[in-house]
Amino acid sequence: MTIQHTALITGASSGLGAEFARQLASEGHQLVLVARRLDRLEDLIAELQQKYPQRMEAIRCDLAEVGATAELMDEIASRELSIDILINNAGYTPRDVFSQQTSHVVQAQLQVMVNALTELCHAVLPHMTEKQWGRIINVSSIVAFAPPGRGTLYSAIKQYVFTFSQSLDMDVRRVGVRVTALCPGLTHTEFHDAMDVADKAKKIPEILWTDAPFVVREGWKAVNSGQPVCTPGILNNVLAFVSKRLPERVRYALGTQNPLE
Ligand SMILES: NC(=O)c1ccc[n+]([C@@H]2O[C@H](COP(=O)([O-])OP(=O)(O)OC[C@H]3O[C@@H](n4cnc5c(N)ncnc54)[C@H](OP(=O)(O)O)[C@@H]3O)[C@@H](O)[C@H]2O)c1
Repeated sequence: MTIQHTALITGASSGLGAEFARQLASEGHQLVLVARRLDRLEDLIAELQQKYPQRMEAIRCDLAEVGATAELMDEIASRELSIDILINNAGYTPRDVFSQQTSHVVQAQLQVMVNALTELCHAVLPHMTEKQWGRIINVSSIVAFAPPGRGTLYSAIKQYVFTFSQSLDMDVRRVGVRVTALCPGLTHTEFHDAMDVADKAKKIPEILWTDAPFVVREGWKAVNSGQPVCTPGILNNVLAFVSKRLPERVRYALGTQNPLE
């Protein structure tokens, strides 16, 4: 029988996070699901427990709050759980451009997608290193390869996630821990509703979209086969390849055009 593990999934109340929960549950792993919308997490657990008997826990946590990850890890320890699989997935992008964001909005993005992600990687490593086994997926984006977007922190943050994940993989693969930067392209989730651009997103040709089950399957396969970077979908790989090779002037000019504005 396969040895089962415990997975911590952030942003599990919708989209890719919820799909990670479904796929990891189907492999028999225990789940710790985290987001702000506790009701959504509890509904998902109720759905999954009809099919799978293993332990599943929901923890409400606002990762934008300073100190949230320490409290989260204390809560997990108090439930006598240790994390073998970390899916750092929670993320979003605010509606306004950087120059019009409040300092609170700026801080929150950095807290959720940079600080919390980094702190959680650090917090789970002692247990993974001791067990000589661990899997970490940090959800970046195809925008890590694309031209920087106008007035957004999002591209820079996802480049951070992309680079940090590879550095961490180089550090810890010798002790049996694998880290993958998962870089999806446009994916059908609630992401664009949260940005309030759902109508504009619907006008983008379907060929450019992937679905969450495919992205999650590819990401999970990649981390288990030791691939430090995973860009799901042939077209996304082509876009990433071309984008990285464009002259900076062209990348800058393209960056000023955003189909979602
Ligand atoms: N969809 C795409 O086209 C796409 C493409 C590339 C990369 N991505 C990345 O994929 C990841 C997942 O996004 P998604 O597409 O699945 O979008 P989604 O359906 O909107 O899910 C985002 C998740 O993040 C959680 N979250 C947001 N702020 C949080 C906070 N302060 N504390 C805790 N959790 C928080 C949300 O939960 P609560 O609101 O309940 O807290 C939700 O579960 C993100 O990192 C995103 O950048 C998405």
